[in-house]
Amino acid sequence: MSQQPSSSASILEATGQKHLTQEERFEKVRTLVRPDSESASAALAAEVAALVRSREAEGRDTVLGLATGSTPVPFYRELIRLHREEGLSFRRVVTFNLDEYYGLPRDHPESYFRFMRDQLFDHVDLDPDRIHLPDGTVPMDAVYRHCLDYEQRIAEAGGLDLQILGIGRTGHIGFNEPGSAADSRTRMITLDRVTRQDAAADFMGMANVPRSAITMGVGTILEAKRLVLMAWGANKSAIVREAVEGAVSDQVSASFLQTHENATFLVDGEASADLTRFRFPWLVGPVEWDAPMKKRAVVWLARKLDKPVLKLVDEDYNESGAGELLASTSEAAYEVNIDIFNQVQHTITGWPGGKPGADDSRRPERSQPHPKRVLVLSPEPADAFVGMGGTLARLREQGHEVKVVFQTSGNLRVADIAALNFARVVLEMAESSHSPEWESQTAYARSIVEAIDAKGEFGIDPELVRRLKGLILRGEARDAASVCHLRYHDSEFLDLPFYESGRFRRFRLGEEDVRALVGVLESFRPHSVFATGEASDPSTPQAITYRAFATAWDSLAEADFRADCRVWLYRGRDRPFEAHEIDMAVPMSPDQLEDKVESIRRFMSINEADLNAPTRNREIAATYDALGLAEYEGIEAFRRGPQG
Ligand code: GLP
Repeated sequence: MSQQPSSSASILEATGQKHLTQEERFEKVRTLVRPDSESASAALAAEVAALVRSREAEGRDTVLGLATGSTPVPFYRELIRLHREEGLSFRRVVTFNLDEYYGLPRDHPESYFRFMRDQLFDHVDLDPDRIHLPDGTVPMDAVYRHCLDYEQRIAEAGGLDLQILGIGRTGHIGFNEPGSAADSRTRMITLDRVTRQDAAADFMGMANVPRSAITMGVGTILEAKRLVLMAWGANKSAIVREAVEGAVSDQVSASFLQTHENATFLVDGEASADLTRFRFPWLVGPVEWDAPMKKRAVVWLARKLDKPVLKLVDEDYNESGAGELLASTSEAAYEVNIDIFNQVQHTITGWPGGKPGADDSRRPERSQPHPKRVLVLSPEPADAFVGMGGTLARLREQGHEVKVVFQTSGNLRVADIAALNFARVVLEMAESSHSPEWESQTAYARSIVEAIDAKGEFGIDPELVRRLKGLILRGEARDAASVCHLRYHDSEFLDLPFYESGRFRRFRLGEEDVRALVGVLESFRPHSVFATGEASDPSTPQAITYRAFATAWDSLAEADFRADCRVWLYRGRDRPFEAHEIDMAVPMSPDQLEDKVESIRRFMSINEADLNAPTRNREIAATYDALGLAEYEGIEAFRRGPQG
């Protein structure tokens, strides 16, 4: 569709005032959509390389404004590759980073200085004297001066030729939280609660996340000659829409890019999904009214008018911009309504593994074979329960052979105090036993306590501690599984190596990870697989474990079990499916929803959002109710996967 013209466009070309096509007319800043973060990042890196080379040929420096976070990581990887393999030199490059946490020493693992060294600076020939980041360690009374100096240095370097940006969930660029004015300059800022929540995993707990930061101001950023804001994954789609299509507002500092002469949003398919041209394409041009498009439009219309599907009339279609749908089929609203109502109705089933002996021609899952071997993939231990705890319980109750595979240990989410408590219990038991048999346990527990003491507040856990934290989560996961009626041996823990050796925002999938998934699939030979992460931010464990699964699945194209295996996608921590996207809706009674909450509570490391999972289940149920279907307490939603 409208991706065609964009995919060949240069990212850095001068946009001037945006030249939008009819389809893009809701977008107030140029937005380029690429299929995935890798190809988008590679295209941007190639253009940045060309810019650096052409300026170098003219004897000029290139001044780059850089960003941190997971978003630019693939871009930095590509720059490093260009340096190593294609001779791109950074000798004539000067860099200024957007921001830095206040109060973190520069060698702290989560400081942006350290991040930039790890992700870029240490791997290219940048002159250390030409690297600039705000300094989070300057004393409070020197911060103001430090910020003025930072601005001064940017000016002396000739201003920013290009500023790279990510976007936070509050719509911030740099750390310009809601309320940051268009003319704000480099300064100290208090971090928003949402921002701190989002950083909690990096810092192993919200309590450890700094409360403030030094950031370039919106005004500083807007003075750059070019701006490129990147965003990946479904969790960014709502804020991208607000920034691109919403009003310019200091509540969403990224919206100020609309006022810049040369700003571009560079996004992947998932992050662009809420833009009008993708979400409601019939509002911006002709569309092909195939079955999914019809379903999407009718569900949209019913929700917009707050009417059940069966009560929509011709005028509703015409007056809301969906008249073409009726024209294209020559059907009256009544017939279209019934068709869509039935489709939605047929997604509902209390038999997520298929109903044995029943006619399954209109059911989401086939009745044979029964029982099925059902494989449930949980990226981090709590995901399966957050996303499909109720369905898990049903599958077990209906006699299927369920195997929950916990793909990563999740140990980065476990607080130090949990490991310390465990070690202390062992020490106290040893002491009260007065027996030499406890010697090795005592030594183990002591080394845990010492390792945690030694690493200080934000240090990296040695393997010993990560292992213990993983084991603590294992216990919790088994406990949660038993709430869903699973037995001890229904759980398997893969501890995928990419996670064990990585940190948040910097994970990298390896071949061993894929091999582990191949092993699971080959040995279990499932009839159905439940997976999640296909739309997640590509840097997250959810996205990476999904890629491991998808790659493993593809490599088993010839395996005979695949001919009779169906893949279902669920959503745990990501944006829930919308009603039109749902292929299977599993209803939940109030008691089942209670059990699900109970299973999630078994994890000490859960946060508010995880505990909110039942709210999402209730929202989906309320949507089905509003569309005119039965009223349930909650619904867990699934979509057929692209595989099989
Ligand atoms: C932090 C950074 C921003 C970044 C944002 C999003 O708030 N200060 O510069 O854009 O996080 O991070 P991520 O790219 O990991 O989603």
